[in-house]
Amino acid sequence: MPKTIAIACDHAGFPLKEALKKACGDRYRWLDLGTNSTDSVSYADFGEHLAKAIGAGRADYGILICGTGIGISIAANRYAHIRAAVCTSSTMARLARAHNNANVLALGARIIGAEVALDCIDTFMTTDFEGGRHQARVDKLNTGL
Ligand code: RB5
Repeated sequence: MPKTIAIACDHAGFPLKEALKKACGDRYRWLDLGTNSTDSVSYADFGEHLAKAIGAGRADYGILICGTGIGISIAANRYAHIRAAVCTSSTMARLARAHNNANVLALGARIIGAEVALDCIDTFMTTDFEGGRHQARVDKLNTGL
């Protein structure tokens, strides 16, 4: 059974969102939370939509896309159950999963191309959290909130 990925973007990320869904074919099931055009929107809203969808159990993992991946990841990371990592290489995607147990991959459509983005997605989705010494560090991320 393919894993369900929630995906959301702003206007800058919309063309890459569509290209990535098409290129991935049926490797994953998508919960597409928009936006659905290049009309100007706020990344803050779409980061929030995705964080809430994952919190509600509608998807296990998420992908966020804006111009840089930064604004939309900041928006999602306001939620304690989200660990969103901006990645520009498959190495970063692998370590975001293995060391940080990231559950959301953030991509910058103005920073990387579709091929690198696809490598990031496939690596992110096939790498397990290593646990061990990394578990206590991840556990600390939500202390003091
Ligand atoms: C939109 O122009 C742009 O600011 C946004 O996509 C993102 O890069 C913000 O972090």
